[in-house]
Amino acid sequence: MTSVTSLTDQVQQRLANALSATRPEADADPLLRRSDRADFQANGILALAKKAKSNPRELATQVVGNIVTGDVIKDVEVSGPGFLNITVSDKAITENLAARHADTERLGVPHKDTPGVTVVDYAQPNVAKEMHVGHLRSAVIGDALRAMLDFTGEKTIGRHHIGDWGTQFGMLIQYLFEHPGELAPPEDVDGEQAMSNLNRVYKASRAVFDADEEFKERARKRVVALQSGDKETLELWQQFVDESKVYFNSVFEKLDMEVRDEEIVGESAYNEGMPETARLLEEMGVAVRSEGALVVFFDEIRGKDDQPVPLIVQKADGGFGYAASDLTAIRNRVFDLHATTLLYVVDVRQSLHFKMVFETARRAGWLTEHVTAHNMGYGTVLGADGKPFKTREGETVRLEDLLDEAVQRAAEVVREKAQDLTEGEIQERAAQVGIGAVKYADLSTSPNRDYKFDLDQMVSLNGDTSVYLQYAYARIQSILRKAGETKPAAHPELELAPAERALGLHLDAFGDTVFEAAAEYAPHKLAAYLYQLASLYTSFYDKCPVLKAETPAQVENRLFLCDLTARTLHQGMALLGIRTPERL
Ligand code: ARG
Repeated sequence: MTSVTSLTDQVQQRLANALSATRPEADADPLLRRSDRADFQANGILALAKKAKSNPRELATQVVGNIVTGDVIKDVEVSGPGFLNITVSDKAITENLAARHADTERLGVPHKDTPGVTVVDYAQPNVAKEMHVGHLRSAVIGDALRAMLDFTGEKTIGRHHIGDWGTQFGMLIQYLFEHPGELAPPEDVDGEQAMSNLNRVYKASRAVFDADEEFKERARKRVVALQSGDKETLELWQQFVDESKVYFNSVFEKLDMEVRDEEIVGESAYNEGMPETARLLEEMGVAVRSEGALVVFFDEIRGKDDQPVPLIVQKADGGFGYAASDLTAIRNRVFDLHATTLLYVVDVRQSLHFKMVFETARRAGWLTEHVTAHNMGYGTVLGADGKPFKTREGETVRLEDLLDEAVQRAAEVVREKAQDLTEGEIQERAAQVGIGAVKYADLSTSPNRDYKFDLDQMVSLNGDTSVYLQYAYARIQSILRKAGETKPAAHPELELAPAERALGLHLDAFGDTVFEAAAEYAPHKLAAYLYQLASLYTSFYDKCPVLKAETPAQVENRLFLCDLTARTLHQGMALLGIRTPERL
């Protein structure tokens, strides 16, 4: 496990040295980027020349004179008004990649120097309710962000803030109290049965609730009993939670996502702490009484008629809601879990709620400059018509139906291409391809944007899809199998073809990309990287024969590029929560 410094960083370092050797007083930044003209282009000279009031081209020439060449940097030339075009040596590329290849666990990617603790709030469905396409995004994005952060060395703690508390449970519990046995014990049902039981109880209780005033009153009393912790009421409530968990877990399993039971910490978990949260806020004067309710006002947040919109910590009837549980959760996450970052992967439509909650916590001193709170507010999933995704009947789409359909479509694609796969293998691949397709379509767009849910496009073999990446991976595996006894081996003495260099430099940038994507909470940057990797591999494969290369050393070196590409694809896809089958 030795970490490898990327060529980008190595070049950056050499340039920084040359800049400060040329103008020691100016603290200049080399501003390096990948370029088509050479391997890298540096354009920090222009700013430096401006500061030093000197001619940029002349200054550039001086900097060139101070750059150490010969090992990593093969060639550097002044271009345009004062850019530097930098070419790295073939040997440096192959040696760096060889060092990555030797690290079987992390491809040479280092761990952060100072990891923090990020509590990731994601995949938060609601008890006794069907999961819909909105819950898909939180689960998929949260899972990927978490894996990416973990990979950088950050410590992450998951929190599935499920909706398992509130007045809506009064009706359900009262109904179950009057019709015991309507929910089966969790061990006797699968996910589908659990949800159908819950739906049945919900519909039946709703019908009585709407028709029978006396039941309504009993349901109201039940809410009070629940909030005051009445034992029998809590037991009935627990049945709803347990039945729902069977259902959630079946969906998460379908999504090929690990959800740990100890991280399912729903709204109810903060119930006990809520009165204290309210008391503290009131004592500090952060929250004030207004018409009986305990609220927090914000100057800058106003609604219709320019009226201030307050955050309601406690309702006039004494009840606590969504805000109180989130505020109590912050106290827990900061003081007990010692979080340095609070990340919420929640629909952008809740961004005002989080803005108010964070501001309140700041005023209370629970959020300080040592803790960052961020709502990764994601956009809406749209149907083919560009409107929020609905069934033909105008209902919200059940997440399970959607996943099942994706797997079914994937099965068609896999079957068509399958040569030596058994039916069992086809089904297994179909799940990996179908679920991968759904995840990738979500993750390859910037999270804050809406995207269209288009299954045809998602499972297409051409274009920016996970299937395309999975095929690239499987094709490499097949080449490695065909190579038989010839094993991948790096040969730094060999000259590289342009397509090999392009692929090699991109492979070398994997760690930098993961770090950037994790820091910016931008899984789409990793997805874009992987797509480009597969494209560069395809051009390499078209232009450079692997098994029929000219010399045995070249065969080994190209196999080595193939192998490192496969491992990078595998690692990158794993961070996005997507499988890479060995054969497709
Ligand atoms: N259960 C909520 C919903 O379905 C999302 C919870 C988000 N997390 C939070 N800490 N408020 O809308």
